Amino acid sequence: MEMTPRWPTMFGQGKFEVEGLFEYLFANYDLNDPGGDVDGANIFTDNSEMMNKFKSVVHGKFNEYLTNTISKTIEDFGDHEIKAWITGHGKGYSMTTHNHSGAHISAVFYVLAEDKYSGGSIVFIDPRSNANRGYDSSFDDLFAHHAFVPETGDYVIFPSFNYHHVKPYYSEFRICIPVDLYLYSNKDV
Ligand SMILES: [Fe+2]
Repeated sequence: MEMTPRWPTMFGQGKFEVEGLFEYLFANYDLNDPGGDVDGANIFTDNSEMMNKFKSVVHGKFNEYLTNTISKTIEDFGDHEIKAWITGHGKGYSMTTHNHSGAHISAVFYVLAEDKYSGGSIVFIDPRSNANRGYDSSFDDLFAHHAFVPETGDYVIFPSFNYHHVKPYYSEFRICIPVDLYLYSNKDV
């Protein structure tokens, strides 16, 4: 029998490094009230040398993801937008289940996540809604949540439709940067 995986949900993870980024964010942003995507905040409108360096790293990671999934890069599209904001900063931070509807590929870059024993994992849910209904537990692995426990310098990339939530973070301080990539086939869209 020929077996074919259908409806795959490609999940990327790896390490990134931008020297001085943490210090820059600390000095230039109010990390206690950084604004979120729903407020229209986009730290990528910051055209500083440091943020441009970070943008270029993010761009490269998205391109690696796109190359591995659809054999294209951002440059193959007519136009694109990238929006990023700061989150995950304070003690007790958590985020209820959501997706990044409207964007196409999303990512989270963990600029500072020193204490991996203090919660704060990001949990991805099988996007095939209710797919596990009625299956015996022998099939559990096919529907399992994927929990990623971040450390400083980690990033994850996933399709924006993939629902996820963030478990409470109990330590004092960390900095996560979610990023949404929008890809347009036509510049007029
Ligand atoms: Fe999210």
